[in-house]
Amino acid sequence: MEQYIIKGGIPLTGDVDISGAKNAALALVAAAIMTDDKVVIDNLPDVRDINVLIQAIEGIGARVVRRDANCVEIDSSTISSVRVDYEYIKKIRASYYLLGALLGKYHKAEVALPGGCNIGSRPIDQHIKGFKALGAEVEIDHGMIMTEAKELIGNHIYMDVVSVGATINVMLAAAMAEGKTIIENAAKEPHVVDVANMLNSMGANIKGAGTDVIRIRGVEKLHGTEYSVIPDQIEAGTFMFAAAATRGNVLVKNVIPKHLEAITAKLLEIGCCIEEYDDAVRVIGPEELKATHVKTLPYPGFPTDMQPQIAVTLALSTGTSVVTESIFENRFKYVDELTRMGANIKVEGNSAFIVGVEKYMGAEVSAPDLRAGAALVIAGLAAEGFTTVDDIVYIQRGYEKFEEKLRGLGARIEKVSSEHDAQKFRLKAV
Ligand code: UD1
Repeated sequence: MEQYIIKGGIPLTGDVDISGAKNAALALVAAAIMTDDKVVIDNLPDVRDINVLIQAIEGIGARVVRRDANCVEIDSSTISSVRVDYEYIKKIRASYYLLGALLGKYHKAEVALPGGCNIGSRPIDQHIKGFKALGAEVEIDHGMIMTEAKELIGNHIYMDVVSVGATINVMLAAAMAEGKTIIENAAKEPHVVDVANMLNSMGANIKGAGTDVIRIRGVEKLHGTEYSVIPDQIEAGTFMFAAAATRGNVLVKNVIPKHLEAITAKLLEIGCCIEEYDDAVRVIGPEELKATHVKTLPYPGFPTDMQPQIAVTLALSTGTSVVTESIFENRFKYVDELTRMGANIKVEGNSAFIVGVEKYMGAEVSAPDLRAGAALVIAGLAAEGFTTVDDIVYIQRGYEKFEEKLRGLGARIEKVSSEHDAQKFRLKAV
């Protein structure tokens, strides 16, 4: 099994290029199957979740040509089935976007129930509520979600919780429904806007994405497009906190600084120096990190996907911080691992009380999920001595060339698959 081995204690310095946003790209690949014309998607991150979704659409007949590692051409005119039962699809949460896309185009979809990171109970009741409001029947049977509609008719839908997935999924189906759909209490995340933009470039009529009311006038047909995925705000944020935790100086390039405002605000509060450019942000970590409090919230609040990375950084500050998780209830599973590296953190309910320590000590830890895995890598980069991070398959789901990009910033990190290779790294790195 592959693991990362890290020799910590080196401040990260240099430039890093951020890839396309995984969570946007998942929805864009699903949206691409809603037309029989060719769709080209560029700046697509070459990560496991995206590759699984691509194999899943190939499984139902779409033809996908890779122009290069980050650009695909999707031809869905050859789709011959609406049943997505590909064995790996359950492992990616966003497989549910195929429901909205297939329902919109073919009025029928059968997709294996979504899995994804185990970060708490992740119901899909709001997706189902939205589909039903558009006139579809929805049934769950033997691990499959099946939905079908004689006619899809626009409706007024109020989301009971702010959900990125449900907002996008209903938007996909409603883009090809008859008449007008209004989604109220919609999620405002940048990737919701990205999906609306791509659908509009395919001929859809969607207004208001990025606000909490989205208005969609359904169209009969969508056409081909060429589209480039927005930069990944979470990957960018991860490198920004890695710079802070290692007291480094990193220019994070190919980003939209506006999408990073909640993250930069917290970095400023803990004493970092931030320089903002048109499409880049420089983070300079201070000698002494200050404590602060943070609560995760839907966009434009502080993202839940950045919670482990900020907690790992705050655990090295002077003072006491409180991190409150308000989106997913099971997102502190990395705390036990971090404690073994010397952190002083107590979790009570949905809050982590963090008393800063001077440094981490390298240890053997396991990634419990995607973002927590990346956060443990940050801890390893800041730690004294060697850290190994197991179960990096989680990290590979969402970070493109993670270790390569970190090495470009001077980190000593290697992906190894045997104790022999780990030993070689240790000998070389002393
Ligand atoms: C997406 C992201 C994930 C991120 C999350 C919140 C993808 C593939 N994943 O996940 O990385 O952490 O947004 O920014 O884009 N909820 C319901 N009923 C529903 C749907 C959601 O109660 O039908 C609840 C969830 O349990 C959670 C909250 O709503 O408490 C937000 O979830 P949601 O925004 O839907 O997350 P995902 O789209 O699954």
